[in-house]
Amino acid sequence: MDSIGSLGLQQGEGAPSCPQEGLPCPSNSSEMVQECLQQFKVTGAQLRQIQTSLLGSMEQALRGQVGPAPAVRMLPTYVGSTPHGTEKGDFVVLELGATGASLRVLWVTLTGIEGHKVEPRSQEFVIPQEVMLGPGQQLFDFAARCLSEFLDVLPVDNQGLQLGFSFSFPCHQTGLDKSTLISWTKGFKCSDVEGQDVVQLLRDAIQRQGAYSIDVVAVVNDTVGTMMGCEPGVGPCEVGLVVDTGTNACYMEEARHVAVLDEDRGRVCISIEWGSFSDEGALGPVQTIFDHTLDHESLNPGAQRFEKMIGGLYLGELVRLVLVHLAQRGVLFGGHTSPVLRSQGSILLEHVAEMEDPSAGAARVHAVLQDLGLNPKASDAEWVQCVCMAVCTRAAQLCAAALAAVLSRLQHSREQQALQIAVATGGRVFERHPRFLSVLRETVMLLAPNCDVSFIPSVDGGGRGVAMVTAVAARLAAHRRLLEETLAPFRLTREQLAEVQAQMREAMAKGLQGEASSLRMLPTYVRATPDGSERGDFLALDLGGTNFRVLLVRVTTGGVQISSQIYSIPECVAQGSGQQLFDHIVDCIVDFQQKQGLSGQSLPLGFTFSFPCRQMGLDQGILLNWTKGFNASDCEGQDVVCLLREAIRRRQAVELNVVAIVNDTVGTMMSCGYEDPHCEVGLIVGTGTNVCYMEELRNVASVDGDSGQMCINTEWGAFGDDGSLSMLSTRFDASVDQESINPGKQRFEKMISGMYLGEIVRHILLHLTSLGVLFRGQQTQRLQTRDIFKTKFLSEIESDSLALRQVRAILEDLGLPLTSDDALMVLEVCQAVSQRAAQLCGAGVAAVVEKIRENRGLEELTISVGVDGTLYKLHPHFSSLVAATVRELAPRCVVTFLQSEDGSGKGAALVTAVACRLAQRTRI
Ligand code: BG6
Ligand code: GLC
Ligand code: GLC
Repeated sequence: MDSIGSLGLQQGEGAPSCPQEGLPCPSNSSEMVQECLQQFKVTGAQLRQIQTSLLGSMEQALRGQVGPAPAVRMLPTYVGSTPHGTEKGDFVVLELGATGASLRVLWVTLTGIEGHKVEPRSQEFVIPQEVMLGPGQQLFDFAARCLSEFLDVLPVDNQGLQLGFSFSFPCHQTGLDKSTLISWTKGFKCSDVEGQDVVQLLRDAIQRQGAYSIDVVAVVNDTVGTMMGCEPGVGPCEVGLVVDTGTNACYMEEARHVAVLDEDRGRVCISIEWGSFSDEGALGPVQTIFDHTLDHESLNPGAQRFEKMIGGLYLGELVRLVLVHLAQRGVLFGGHTSPVLRSQGSILLEHVAEMEDPSAGAARVHAVLQDLGLNPKASDAEWVQCVCMAVCTRAAQLCAAALAAVLSRLQHSREQQALQIAVATGGRVFERHPRFLSVLRETVMLLAPNCDVSFIPSVDGGGRGVAMVTAVAARLAAHRRLLEETLAPFRLTREQLAEVQAQMREAMAKGLQGEASSLRMLPTYVRATPDGSERGDFLALDLGGTNFRVLLVRVTTGGVQISSQIYSIPECVAQGSGQQLFDHIVDCIVDFQQKQGLSGQSLPLGFTFSFPCRQMGLDQGILLNWTKGFNASDCEGQDVVCLLREAIRRRQAVELNVVAIVNDTVGTMMSCGYEDPHCEVGLIVGTGTNVCYMEELRNVASVDGDSGQMCINTEWGAFGDDGSLSMLSTRFDASVDQESINPGKQRFEKMISGMYLGEIVRHILLHLTSLGVLFRGQQTQRLQTRDIFKTKFLSEIESDSLALRQVRAILEDLGLPLTSDDALMVLEVCQAVSQRAAQLCGAGVAAVVEKIRENRGLEELTISVGVDGTLYKLHPHFSSLVAATVRELAPRCVVTFLQSEDGSGKGAALVTAVACRLAQRTRI
C-alpha cells in the first residue's frame, strides 16, 4: 500500500473515504458512488510518475527537442530578472484570458522602494459569449472599448499612456512587445488570431477606437505577472503559479539551458504551459471517463488534457458530469436530472467552492442544487459535497505534482540539493478554495521533500507585476528610440547615395581638368596592363597599409613567384623625421637582401607607396601630403624616390635601381590585371580607401597626348574636403575628424576605411552611454581610450556565425562589461556604421564605372575591379553591400570584383617589369 499522508491517497483496495479527513461520506451509498469517487483518487506513485514525466518533457523542450505529441512548451518570456522594486510610474494594465469570460482593466501606480504604496483602480467587464467565439477583431475592439470606458472616468491625460497587456494564452514571444498566439485555450476561440501578433491586434483596435493614445509596451502571461508582482522584501520570488480558469506556471531558468536563446548568462523567465502536458503513460491511469467526456465536448478536444483536470473552467463541469452520471443511474436525486444540470457549463467554480466548503453546511449545498433545478435529499447533499472534494483534491494533487517537477528542475539547474524558494500564487481557484492551497502545499512537501517552499499570494491579481514588466519595457523602448534617433543619420537613402555618386562624378571631371576639386585625379604614368611577356627578378616595397613589406618577385614563363617579409614601422618612426623613416626602410631592405642571398645585386625596384603623390614620370613622385597614421617630417613636397635614394646613399652598402613608384590601388589593379584583362579599376578599402582606373588620356589635362589611356589615382579619400559631404557628416564623424592627426582632411576616407570605423563606433557608444542607453549610463575609462575599437572587432562582431554571447565576450575583452541588451545595441551600431561605409564606397565605384562606360560610349560595360584591404576582405558583409550598391546605382555596368591575393607589391613589380621591357625595347 502506497499512501500519502492524510490526504486519502491510496492505492489498491480499501473502504472509500471522502478525500478530506474529518468528512466521512455516507456509508449507505451504493457501490456505484464509491466506484465513481474511487476514480478520482490518485496514488503517490501516480503523482511521482507525473512529476517525473513532466520534468522530462520540460527538459526536452528546453533542449529544443519537440516530440510528436504536444508536450509542455517552455516559452521564453523576455523577462530577464525579477523586479528590484525601483520601478516607478503610472501604467494601464489590460488582462485578458486569465479569469474566464471577464476582462479587467487596471490603473497601477508604481512608487519605487521608498514611495507609499498606491492601491490600483480596476474595473471588470464581462465578455459576451459571442465575442469569445466571434471574429478576432470584434474581441480586440471590445477590449479597446473597455479601456476607453475605464479611462473616461479617471482624471488622466489622453496622451502617452503606457499599457501592459496580460494575455494568458500560449504565445511565442519574440520581444517584450511581440507575441504570436499559438492556439486559443480555455473558453476562447476567436477567428483570425492564431498565428498573429496579439500586441499589434490590440494596437490596431485602440487606434480604430481612436479615443486614447496608448502605447502597448509589454505583453505578459498571467503567470509572469503573478511572479513579478510579488512584494519585494520577501526575497526573490522565482516561480509564478496560476490556477484560474486554466493553469500554468512560469519560473526563472538559467538562460544557458534554453536552446532557443542565444544567451549563456543570467536567467530568463519561462512560461511552461503545462496545461498541454499530455503524456499518456503518466496521465492515462489517472483519467476518468468524465475527463474523456469533458474533453470530447470542449472547444478544443484533445488539447490541454492536463489543464482540463485542474483549471477552474473545468472543475464545475467535471462535478456536473459526475452528478448527471449518478442521477441517471438512479443513485442521486431520486434518479432525476434537470434541464439545467444537463446543460454544459451550468455548474461553475463558485458553486463547487461553496458546496465544498464544510463551514457552509448542508443547507448551502441544498440551495445550490435547488438552483440547478434539483430536488436533493439530505444524503444527496453529502454525496455531492464528496464529489466536489474528490474533483478538487485531485486537481490540487496534480497541480502539486507539476509544481514538484518545476522544483526538481530548479534543483537540477541550480545544482542545489536543498532549495529554498518562494512561489507566487494567483487565480480564482486559490482565492476561492482555501483548501486547494493546503492540499497543494502538503502534497508538494511529500513529493519534493528537500524544498522549502513558501507560497505568496499575488498582489492585485498580478496587475502590479504586469505594471513592473511594463515599466522595464517602457525604459527599454525609450532606449531603442534614442538608439534609432542616433543611428538615423547613418541610414542613407537611395537618393542620398545617388547624390554622392553625382557629386563624385563632378569632382572627378573637375579634377581631370585641373579645376578646383577635392579629387586630385593624379596621373600615374601607367599606360598599360602587363601583356605576359615580362620576365625577370624584381624587388618591391609595400608601404602604407597595415604592414610594411619587402618582396622578391620572380616573373617567369611559369608565372609569378613571390617571397616576402613583413617589417614593422613603429608609430614613432611613422610620425618621426623623414630621414628616420627612410633609413628604417633601407635597413629593412638590407636585411631582406641578406636573408634572400641577394646582397650586392642591383635588382630593379618597384615601390608601392600608398599616399597621394604627384608623378611626373613612373619613377618620380612628390608626396602631396601624408594620410592615415603617417606624419613623418620633411617629406611632404619631396620626391619620395629621391628620399629613398638618399637613404640608400647614406647606407652606402646597397645598390638599388628604383624604376617605378606605384600607389597601392595601382598595384592592386595591375596585380589582378595580370590574371584578368578586364581589370581596369583598383580599389582599396583597408586602413585607408582609394580608387584608380584607366582614363582616356584625352581627358587628362595635365598630361600631353590624346590617344591611349592612363591609370588615374583618384585619391578619393579626400572627397568632400571642400565641404561637399557636410550634409552626410554626423556629429560623430566631426569628432573623429577633430581628434585625428589631419583634421578637415580625408573626409570620405574617414567615413569608410578601417582606420576610422572603430573610432566612429566608439564615439557613438560614448554618446549612447551619456544618454543612459548603454552600460547603465556608466562611462568607463576604456571607452574613452582612442582606437580601442579596431576594424577587426567590427568584422568579428558582425559575423553571422557569432552568437550574441560571443559579441559580449569580445567587448568584455575590451574591458567593457555589458548586458545582452547592450551587446545587441553595440552590434546594431557596428552594422549601421559599416553599412554606411560600404554604401558610400559603392556609390563611389558606381561613379567610376559609369564614367568609364560613358568615356567609351558603350550601352553596357563589362568590367572588373581589383580589390584589396583588410576591411573589405575581413568584414562579413562589406563586399556584398558594395556590390549591391553598385548594381543599384550603375545598372548598365556589369561589375566583377576580384580580390587581390598577393597584395600591391606584386603589382608594383609588374609595373616595374613592364617599364624594364619597354626600356629594353627602346634601347634595341
Ligand atoms: C595591400 C597592399 O594589398 O592592401 C597595401 O599591398 C595596401 O599596400 C593594402 O595599403 C591596403 O590594405 P590595409 O588594410 O593593409 O590598409
Ligand atoms: C492557460 C493558458 C496559459 C495561462 C493559463 C492560466 O493554460 O494557455 O497561458 O497561463 O491558462 O491562465
Ligand atoms: C590613403 C592614401 C591613398 C591610398 C589609400 C589606401 O587614402 O592617401 O594613396 O591609396 O589610403 O591605402
